Amino acid sequence: MKPRSLGTTGPRVFPIGLGCMGMSDLYGPADEGESVATIHAALDAGITLLDTGDYYGAGHNELLLRETLRGRTRQEVVLSVKFGALRGPAGSWIGIDGRPAAVKNFLAYSLRRLGTDYIDVYRPGRVDPAVPIEDTVGAIAEMVKAGYVRHVGLSEAGPETLRRAHRVHPIADLQIEYSLLSRGIEAEILPTCRELGIGVTAYGVLSRGLLSGHWSKERALTPGDFRNFSPRFSGENLEHNLQLVEALREVAGAKRATVAQVAIGWVLSRGSDIVPLIGARRRDRLGEALAAVDLDLSPGDLARIERAVPSGATAGDRYPTVQMAHLDSERGRPA
Ligand SMILES: NC(=O)c1ccc[n+]([C@@H]2O[C@H](COP(=O)([O-])OP(=O)(O)OC[C@H]3O[C@@H](n4cnc5c(N)ncnc54)[C@H](OP(=O)(O)O)[C@@H]3O)[C@@H](O)[C@H]2O)c1
Repeated sequence: MKPRSLGTTGPRVFPIGLGCMGMSDLYGPADEGESVATIHAALDAGITLLDTGDYYGAGHNELLLRETLRGRTRQEVVLSVKFGALRGPAGSWIGIDGRPAAVKNFLAYSLRRLGTDYIDVYRPGRVDPAVPIEDTVGAIAEMVKAGYVRHVGLSEAGPETLRRAHRVHPIADLQIEYSLLSRGIEAEILPTCRELGIGVTAYGVLSRGLLSGHWSKERALTPGDFRNFSPRFSGENLEHNLQLVEALREVAGAKRATVAQVAIGWVLSRGSDIVPLIGARRRDRLGEALAAVDLDLSPGDLARIERAVPSGATAGDRYPTVQMAHLDSERGRPA
């Protein structure tokens, strides 16, 4: 599969990217040695886009990347970094800050932690409702001019915000949840991105493990795991959603593929302007995900996949209610 571009102005990258969040945060304990080995294996396999956030493990994720990338050339990787979420010492989420001075402050710390003098794609993890997007993006644009940032991205932004931001500085890509279980972007956000030449880096392609084929009702979660609070992973919703996964398993079996591969392959099939981010933190998971790049899905296969997991069939929102309210991308959408 050919490399993909992050929009009309962004860098060219391998068709899937590696999301490093789970190596430091939100999905229970991770084995650090295995995380490092997974990042190396990804780069050795040709992956170029690495996604992180300064708030993943309150800087831990960036420091992990710095250690891992020592000995590699900077040009080998395309670093996507999110900023703006504020964390308390015990890991709580205590706000969002998109003020221009905060943007520059976050960037200074990220550059130092990552041990680099530029970031390829820099983006607010959430749109700060208290700060006009023009101001937040304007500050990143200044940092582009100064050479500290190459491209501007956004995360979980809705159509109006995309347009306003894009008028200030070209937006390379929008990072947003997109999968067979989360198709909300198809109505308005994806068409807006396409109209403006903004690429999509899709996260939650495996719905945080729910759509991986490796999840079960019996799976025990440690405190602090995002999935403890996710409506999709709770009670009857989980039972319903796992039935969808079983239907997909049948389709995958007929293709001699796994559920995860078919789920990733489906997102890859939705357009060459979409780059799935894979949250692998073990080499075996990475290997499984990488095989999706070579999976050949015919129109008949795609129709079977969509019959197994029809649009809108998912039970439960993709975030708990309080967090849904922070998503600019969900504003104005019917409940
Ligand atoms: N912009 C945003 O708001 C936002 C939000 C969330 C994530 N992200 C980005 O997206 C990245 C991906 O995170 P995600 O939540 O979207 O992850 P995901 O890929 O949907 O799910 C990752 C989970 O799936 C499990 N899994 C099972 N089989 C897998 C396989 N073959 N390959 C990969 N994972 C497999 C992993 O398992 P194990 O736990 O067993 O390893 C992990 O728990 C993050 O690292 C982060 O960079 C961005």
